Amino acid sequence: MYAQMIKSEATSDDPEKLAAFQARIDAGEKIEPKDWMPEGYRKTLIRQIGQHAHSEIVGQLPEGNWITRAPSLERKAILLAKVQDEAGHGLYLYCAAETLGVSRDEMTEMLLDGRMKYSSIFAYPTLTWADMGAVGWLVDGAAIMNQVPLQRTSFGPYARAMIRICKEESFHQRQGFDIMMKMCSGTPAQKQMAQDALNRFWFPALMMFGPSDAESTHSAQSMAWKIKMNSNDELRQKFVDQTVPQAEYLGLTVPDDTLAWNEEKGGYDFAEPDWDEFFEVLKGNGPCSVDRIATRKKAWDDGQWVREGLMAHAAKKRAAKVAAE
Ligand code: 3HC
Repeated sequence: MYAQMIKSEATSDDPEKLAAFQARIDAGEKIEPKDWMPEGYRKTLIRQIGQHAHSEIVGQLPEGNWITRAPSLERKAILLAKVQDEAGHGLYLYCAAETLGVSRDEMTEMLLDGRMKYSSIFAYPTLTWADMGAVGWLVDGAAIMNQVPLQRTSFGPYARAMIRICKEESFHQRQGFDIMMKMCSGTPAQKQMAQDALNRFWFPALMMFGPSDAESTHSAQSMAWKIKMNSNDELRQKFVDQTVPQAEYLGLTVPDDTLAWNEEKGGYDFAEPDWDEFFEVLKGNGPCSVDRIATRKKAWDDGQWVREGLMAHAAKKRAAKVAAE
């Protein structure tokens, strides 16, 4: 179905309809699934929402890895709840994408065969308990920075899904910062673990916002359609400005010698991440890329019988209903 949609893309956009559609967007109206929309808009949403959904699901892996090793029952319960929240986020987002005419099965197949991506951050390993703090603080912090504006995105189901997701992500960020506070007020070895986690996650967290505006292929059109509300560099700057004082509060050092407050721009000057590394990660060459997709594939294959069982049950119920009518 998705493939057919892409084929029809070139023929379906007549200029009058396009202008009327853009006027609706400019007036701040929400676009709903049954409304007319340009095929490019539909495709971009499927790509972005699908990639976002995959990120929530794949994002469970680096943290799920620590549930059995959390240092107390309380930390275990909190981490378990957080990882379950991420599953929920993935499901809302898959549902939002499905309203655009793509199935969850198709999106998963596209993730597994490399046609769709997930966030680069999850191609990195979580090596110590302090990484759970750094992930919550920095990764969920970066996610919120990107996702709060998406509550005002033009596509109704996406905007509405983001409201609940953002509330939960805020809790995730706070729990990460709380782990960091505990580690930083602990023994010198614990504080060093926190510093090490910040050292490893700082630049990958900056990469989450995507390539620089000059390199971003989709930003201009996506911002005109209000699929994205801010450019990649704008959000990266806001994230740095918000996070540096938090690192100072923790007594940690951001691993960037060039970091300096710039009075004139009212924000920090900071070093760019290694973009070559970023593009390698996108090609599937991150430290955990192969493992992440293999794990998702195994879960997908292992769940085949459950999906078949549910479909058979639904078909049986439908047949019984028809017979009773
Ligand atoms: N990881 C992987 N791919 C990325 C990326 C990243 N961090 N940043 C950019 N890319 C890809 C884009 O998908 C695009 O590739 P494609 O054409 O093959 O799809 C290419 O790099 C060029 O980048 P653009 O800037 O042109 O792409 P976008 O306009 O789509 O912007 C984005 C990228 C800012 C990530 C945007 O897609 C977005 O805002 N997405 C919604 C939010 C999202 O996906 N968040 C995931 C974060 S993790 C998360 O939420 C889990 C939580 O539990 C922490």
